Amino acid sequence: MSHLDRRTALKRLISFVAASPVMALAQEARDDRYPPIYADEVMGPINLHEFEDIAKSKLHKMAYDFIAGGVEDELTLRANRESFDCLRLMPRYMIDVTHIDTSVELLGRKMDYPIALAPTGGKNLIVAGADLICARGAAKAKALYSVGGAPMDRLLDEGIDLRWWRNTTGSRDQESTQNFARRAEDAGAEAIVLTVDNPYQSNRDRNNRNRFDYGYMSSGVPGSAEGGEPRNPAVAAMWLPHTPNLTWDYINWVRQVSEIPVVVKGILDPYDGEAAVQHGAAAVIVSNHGARQLPSAMASIDALPDVVEAVSGKIPVMMDGGVRRGTDVLKALGLGATCVQIGRPYLWGMAAFGQDGVSRVVELLQAEFKLAMALSGQTKASAIDRRIVRNPACGL
Ligand SMILES: Cc1cc2nc3c(=O)[nH]c(=O)nc-3n(C[C@H](O)[C@H](O)[C@H](O)COP(=O)(O)O)c2cc1C
Repeated sequence: MSHLDRRTALKRLISFVAASPVMALAQEARDDRYPPIYADEVMGPINLHEFEDIAKSKLHKMAYDFIAGGVEDELTLRANRESFDCLRLMPRYMIDVTHIDTSVELLGRKMDYPIALAPTGGKNLIVAGADLICARGAAKAKALYSVGGAPMDRLLDEGIDLRWWRNTTGSRDQESTQNFARRAEDAGAEAIVLTVDNPYQSNRDRNNRNRFDYGYMSSGVPGSAEGGEPRNPAVAAMWLPHTPNLTWDYINWVRQVSEIPVVVKGILDPYDGEAAVQHGAAAVIVSNHGARQLPSAMASIDALPDVVEAVSGKIPVMMDGGVRRGTDVLKALGLGATCVQIGRPYLWGMAAFGQDGVSRVVELLQAEFKLAMALSGQTKASAIDRRIVRNPACGL
């Protein structure tokens, strides 16, 4: 081959490779995420599970157990994962997957990815001001964040662009419900997330064994700078009411004083899904509270299809519990969820690396999800349907 022929051949090869879909995807991925903007140590963990390992090595045992644990024998905690694991995906090919649209719409607004941060109380166990750290991490990953009591005005004053919902386990009476709703609306919350599966403090063996004091959730654990001795240690099967008289009246009370949408979290039974629609809920979240309330409750992903059917498209159905991989997000959307939430993983991210850990966890899951879509021939997240999830062994 002459020198000129070799040069022409090389040029042709370069333009062929540059035009290939592989390069286009690689370019898109680079545009999205590269070069990595995190320190090397934050880029160390290669999946969500590995963030937990790092967090465990850094946390007080009491704090680790409080976050990681479920109720009693942790059957539901295992089921939340096992039920995801036993689902299989059915890919389609010969579809142009150069461009992947991961966005969905939720309560009238577009989300870049169908992945949100679930409400998690007690994270000051990890570090003081934890809610604001997580909120900043969520904002960086452009993800929806549900927050309990933390004041959000400081963040909004900083000009942080965050989509957030205010979480509550309800109030015992109409007046406090209505005051809460007004405050949430004034503070700029886009919705109230009403957690309905928490009438009493549940029975968590790890906390009972550790003589955990629920006061540590705000003050920190003993041994840390802020901690103190347990004053009311958790004991087996203790009877500690939260909001035992919570009923559907709650939504009615909110409706009387505020336009703020109410999202009902903790639904497992399809009849409750139907009731939520009838009582004016804006969305429901199929959840067993990360296996932290009723022992032996159904796995969320198992409960999802029947709730989706009962709600029959009238309001969005979200889910959480055991989501750890991009393929889990795909499976949940295949079974009818509009969006999933993660709880523990972003707490592990924060315990490992602070705010960067939170955003890295979310972005890793987002990237896995996008790749899972591409590898299964799905180009539009909002069009993923049930055909993608198969597993005769799981009864689907
Ligand atoms: C440490 C911790 C605290 C939580 N606190 C709350 C809470 O205050 N309100 C609530 O609705 N759910 C709470 N949850 C449940 C989460 O919102 C979510 O349902 C669950 O964590 C999802 O499961 P995953 O941890 O497997 O992702 C908490 C979960 C954890 C791990």
